[in-house]
Amino acid sequence: MDKNIIDLFDLSGRTVVVTGGGDGIGRGCCEILAAAGANVVVSNRTLWKAEAVADEIKAKGGNAAALMCDVTAGETALRQLIDDAAEIFGTVNILINNAGGGGGGKEDPWHIDLDYVERIYMMNLFAPWVLSKYAAIYMERSGYGSIVNITSMSSINADPCMSIYGSSKAALNHLCANMAYDLGPKGIRINCVGPGAVRTKALASVLTPEIEARMLSHTPIRRLGEVDDIARAVLFLASPASSWISGQTLMVNGGGVQTLD
Ligand SMILES: NC(=O)c1ccc[n+]([C@@H]2O[C@H](COP(=O)([O-])OP(=O)(O)OC[C@H]3O[C@@H](n4cnc5c(N)ncnc54)[C@H](O)[C@@H]3O)[C@@H](O)[C@H]2O)c1
Repeated sequence: MDKNIIDLFDLSGRTVVVTGGGDGIGRGCCEILAAAGANVVVSNRTLWKAEAVADEIKAKGGNAAALMCDVTAGETALRQLIDDAAEIFGTVNILINNAGGGGGGKEDPWHIDLDYVERIYMMNLFAPWVLSKYAAIYMERSGYGSIVNITSMSSINADPCMSIYGSSKAALNHLCANMAYDLGPKGIRINCVGPGAVRTKALASVLTPEIEARMLSHTPIRRLGEVDDIARAVLFLASPASSWISGQTLMVNGGGVQTLD
């Protein structure tokens, strides 16, 4: 064995853009990718959150920059994010489509409207597509590209009042499987990581002791997920360690099928 295993996870000189990087899973991804040596562009709807994460990375000796981007802002704003990131660090090699939302058992069809549906699909599906399209231009030129979309267990579960979130995340999985064909010949991989229930502010807003107990009862590894559990899977898929993996969805969920009901 003449390979240094650490080299397989080394992202020195690679530039990564993380959407929704100011908190939760996105923040965890920024931190672990910076620790692997990447230049990290922390983008977030709220700029101060992105700045706090970028400052923390820089304080530890890493390379980071903060950019404001609301992923629902449309194609021009999303293209600008990618171009600005490339302007700061020279290129874009890795894209983590993390910003997303909806669901939470609150999607009673008779209490939501088409505006809501469009906003959730913009966040969870259309923005990842737009960002992937523009990032791929830099990735192809640079000779290294990996895109990781944060999907959800809800993309394969069926639950009450989850139809928009669940279907948008299911579409994200299939977008990924299809785009792998478009991007592969350009030297770019695309995969999804599907978290089970992970302790973030988004989960806290829907978690009751009863829901948590039910989730744990069908989670073989008897705990909820932590941000780092997801970030480590993202690191694997972003790095050369996974160089022949593309078009896949990896569920990171303690082995179970967490549902809200
Ligand atoms: N936490 C879970 O249990 C869980 C489970 C499955 C999937 N997910 C997915 O993980 C991703 C991150 O979720 P989280 O739990 O870490 O959320 P979070 O609420 O903890 O953090 C989300 C971050 O994204 C930012 N953000 C929100 N809307 C944005 C927008 N429109 N544009 C840019 N930034 C925006 C927020 O300011 C925040 O910094 C989402 O795609 C979510 O669907 C989370």
